[in-house]
Amino acid sequence: MVIKRGVVLLRPIDALKEKLKTVLSGERYVHSLRVADLSVILARRFGADERKAETAGILYDCARDLSFGEALKEADKFGIILDDVTKNSPGIIHAVIGEALARFKYNINDREVLDAIRYHTTGRKGMSLLEKIVFIADYTEPHRDFPGVGDARKILEQSLDKAVLYAMENTLSHLLEKRMLIHLDTIDARNHYLAQR
Ligand SMILES: [Fe+2]
Repeated sequence: MVIKRGVVLLRPIDALKEKLKTVLSGERYVHSLRVADLSVILARRFGADERKAETAGILYDCARDLSFGEALKEADKFGIILDDVTKNSPGIIHAVIGEALARFKYNINDREVLDAIRYHTTGRKGMSLLEKIVFIADYTEPHRDFPGVGDARKILEQSLDKAVLYAMENTLSHLLEKRMLIHLDTIDARNHYLAQR
């Protein structure tokens, strides 16, 4: 926070936080703060832009608390053509709408940040460093507690790519087990990182 001639000026990142606080549940908001913090730590470690990592980490789930119906309406409003899997998956559509909101509501123009938001659930073949960082920060932030998260954190100590692959395979197993739709980007990404290994 900066105080100039008695007027409180928020740093751009704090202004984003204030705005986000009004649209996310308290729990989701603090989760996003943790994802942003971990994204910054990982950016420092792997040599990505820390400011971009913080921005993407803060905003990555900005559309997560919209209802499915609201998300479909937003897609319509923004003229987004959804593929068959996305338009039937609340878990995926929020990432697509999140990118549009980041751009038009939060005024983010940076392509890397927008892509990190867009691909934080599905992943994709050839993800950028920032995309991988936000993807794995969402998966492993300190309050996450599900089978496999401990292993993901250990693998992340050795390799970002291996941790991303592990998270994708774990997610794919979960989706198959629950008989949920799987996006082709995730399969593509999993094959890409497995072949690279
Ligand atoms: Fe999300």
